[in-house]
Amino acid sequence: MNKNILITGGAGFIGSHVVRNFVNKYPHYNIINFDLLTYAGNLENLTDIDSKSNYTFVKGDICDEKLLAELFGKYNFDGVIHLAAESHVDRSITDPMSFIRTNIVGTVTLLNAAKIAWKDNWEGHRFYHISTDEVYGSLGSEGFFYEDTPYDPRSPYSASKASSDHLVRAYNHTYGMPIVISNCSNNYGPNQFPEKLLPLIINNIKNSKALPVYGKGENIRDWLYVEDHAHAIDLIYHQGKNGETYNIGGGNEWTNIKLVHKLCEIMDGKLNRTPGTSAQLITYVKDRAGHDLRYAIDCKKLESELGWAPTVTFDEGLEKTVNWYLQNIDWMQNVLSGDYEKYYLNQYQKR
Ligand code: NAD
Ligand code: DAU
Repeated sequence: MNKNILITGGAGFIGSHVVRNFVNKYPHYNIINFDLLTYAGNLENLTDIDSKSNYTFVKGDICDEKLLAELFGKYNFDGVIHLAAESHVDRSITDPMSFIRTNIVGTVTLLNAAKIAWKDNWEGHRFYHISTDEVYGSLGSEGFFYEDTPYDPRSPYSASKASSDHLVRAYNHTYGMPIVISNCSNNYGPNQFPEKLLPLIINNIKNSKALPVYGKGENIRDWLYVEDHAHAIDLIYHQGKNGETYNIGGGNEWTNIKLVHKLCEIMDGKLNRTPGTSAQLITYVKDRAGHDLRYAIDCKKLESELGWAPTVTFDEGLEKTVNWYLQNIDWMQNVLSGDYEKYYLNQYQKR
């Protein structure tokens, strides 16, 4: 069946993998990628599919009510997959307002645009909101986040995402809008902006720069290869139950310091360095304010109800990821130009 689908934030890291999967897998769908192209948005992420006839890019802001009304009028969307967001925790600590604006005001502006365009006639429509495990707070050494774990966001980023989740659920409860939400753990893979741990460490190892590890490096994250997340999003968009939430995770917990050591070993091999060379770059720096200790996801609901499972092992995923960054030097050069240097100095000089 033909469908018009609006994907927001499709020029970003995860969004670009979601757009690629939909454009290639569903040639009969018309995919509209709506993205403001902030520092994190990059059309180079999509050069392999941007000339396909079922793909259109529109530059714009999810806070722009008028532009969204025009877009919904023009394309008569069947569904929305909403990924656009400010996504970096460190930036939310120095500039919370941009997170409030995009993640909260932007999400409710998008919900309103859909509600008006769909005229409260919900048949055949779906609003899918992509969220994070960080809304559940922080765990000690035991336990997992479940879909019904009470929200306890602790950074401006996670508080803004939690707020957007609540608004999406409110539109379901109050107006009956058909919605679905997923909350995923840390993604890694090609095309991630090098402010996030993995691409930052890979790039710094390559350039023999200090590897900044916050605090004692004992914080734990659960890592999932980005294409496995994109496949989960495809499955949930098509088969998820109306009004439901699905957790997505990799079952793959690492302390930051162990992960950085693993990357050092892989990179020593790739760069023909004597084993142990890159690890000498590890530098413990001042901790992130309010740094959540541990995230861990229970995603049995997604596995048992929709049959999802991650397909890429961590070893395979790291191999693909490191190779991609080493082979895509132009991509890295282009994203490192512009404001990156200023951001990097601000973020790390004082630590
Ligand atoms: P990203 O920062 O790489 O990309 C965000 C995209 O949104 C960029 O292309 C940017 O230009 C666009 N954008 C920002 N503000 C916008 C606005 N006002 N209007 C239109 N577009 C705008 O983020 P990501 O890591 O790909 O994350 C995508 C989504 O997935 C986010 O909602 C994030 O909260 C969520 N998420 C991310 C992770 C992760 O590990 N990266 C894990 C779970 C959930
Ligand atoms: O859990 C899902 C979330 O994962 C997403 O919602 C966010 O959008 C995404 O950015 C990510 O958040 P984190 O804060 O976990 O990711 P980040 O890559 O910034 O940091 C991962 C861990 O590494 C975290 O414990 C902080 C630490 N870190 C990070 C950086 C950038 C360092 O030790 N040094 C660094 O330089």
